[in-house]
Amino acid sequence: MAEHPAYPVGLRLTGRRVIVLGAGQVAQRRLPALIAAGADILLISPEATPSVEAMADAGELHWERRKYEHGDLADAWYALIATSDTAANEAASAEAETRRVWCVRSDDATAATAWTPATGRSEGVTVAILTTDRPDPRRTAAIRDAVVEGLRDGTLVAPHQRQKTPGVALVGGGPGDPDLITVRGRRLLAEADVVIADRLGPRDLLAELPPHVEVIDAAKIPYGRFMAQEAINNALIEHAKAGKSVVRLKGGDPFVFGRGMEEAQALAEAGIPCTVVPGISSSISVPGAAGIPVTHRGVAHEFTVVSGHVAPDDERSLVDWTALAKARGTLVVLMGVDKIGKIAETLIAGGRAPGTPVALVQEGTTATQRRVDATLATVAEIVTAEEVRPPAVIVIGDVVTVGPGNQR
Ligand SMILES: C[S@@+](CC[C@H](N)C(=O)[O-])C[C@H]1O[C@@H](n2cnc3c(N)ncnc32)[C@H](O)[C@@H]1O
Repeated sequence: MAEHPAYPVGLRLTGRRVIVLGAGQVAQRRLPALIAAGADILLISPEATPSVEAMADAGELHWERRKYEHGDLADAWYALIATSDTAANEAASAEAETRRVWCVRSDDATAATAWTPATGRSEGVTVAILTTDRPDPRRTAAIRDAVVEGLRDGTLVAPHQRQKTPGVALVGGGPGDPDLITVRGRRLLAEADVVIADRLGPRDLLAELPPHVEVIDAAKIPYGRFMAQEAINNALIEHAKAGKSVVRLKGGDPFVFGRGMEEAQALAEAGIPCTVVPGISSSISVPGAAGIPVTHRGVAHEFTVVSGHVAPDDERSLVDWTALAKARGTLVVLMGVDKIGKIAETLIAGGRAPGTPVALVQEGTTATQRRVDATLATVAEIVTAEEVRPPAVIVIGDVVTVGPGNQR
């Protein structure tokens, strides 16, 4: 189509007038980037999609509810012509040509003086892909996705070019499925020199790390005269002080029964920069993976996540089990397999119906995920009979039976 390839350029549009003609799907897709670029956007269109209307309501652009008229491009630096009226598009692009305003056209790329690349961003880099001779949106979008994903997960950047994050990153790895870590967590992992990992979390990701990365099993750090957690804190500090990029890879979210803040505090005391990357907590995702929503309209308007690592009658317990027994919402118990008999007994004694459904989801989101159903009255017996073992998330409440195939 084009004799010469398009000349790629980045327009700095802050405060500069951009005219957008038409407010349908094309404008809806392009407007967020123009808004992000700080352009002074004048939208001219009799109607708009609800999303575009919301942008106008939010003051992100100025909208004149009318059709294009000759002269509209007088103050424009750039124009996006995307009405459903071909004659109007032609007239507007003729005006753009006369006024030397670069314009893109949604209906006829040949008549346009500019093409929009497929764009994506990752950590301070904008990727913009154009095909050489003619616009090919599917192909450019696919290439853009591949490049952006590679940048985000760290697989595209050569190791010597990586900008390492100094200090320690406390990364929530999600419940176990390697796809359930955040993009940021995965990128930091790809940049790490040392990874200190828990038993829970996306262990498969460790196998992907290059051989020079030192992977340390947190459970195996010798602790001698220290507590295990202190030994982990010391190991984090030691490696960071040696100038390494350290990732502390934790299961779920670092701050949900993850002792993440203890590590962050120890690092702060040692003057070591610490980045916290949230993770998908097993408390919500593991029930979800087994078909259990922690809330459901008309069934549960609250859910409480509790630790069951000490029994309800243990003086170290900070959980008000009597209040939980009286509440109507969903109870999600972590680290509770060993104590579930005592927990169920306490909840029944406090007023929860013995027939309240209970589900135990073991090794959720992994290849060995398994769900075992019971009631408060039967759960102790069933856990033993079915040999349910940690890690498991226990869900107590009527939400257990709302999923397809589980209705009572
Ligand atoms: C020390 S807590 C850590 C929780 C984690 N920080 C989170 O947000 O998911 C460990 C408990 O989380 C639950 N857990 C974590 N991952 C799990 C998984 N994949 N399947 C079932 N339970 C899991 C279990 O109850 C386990 O005993």
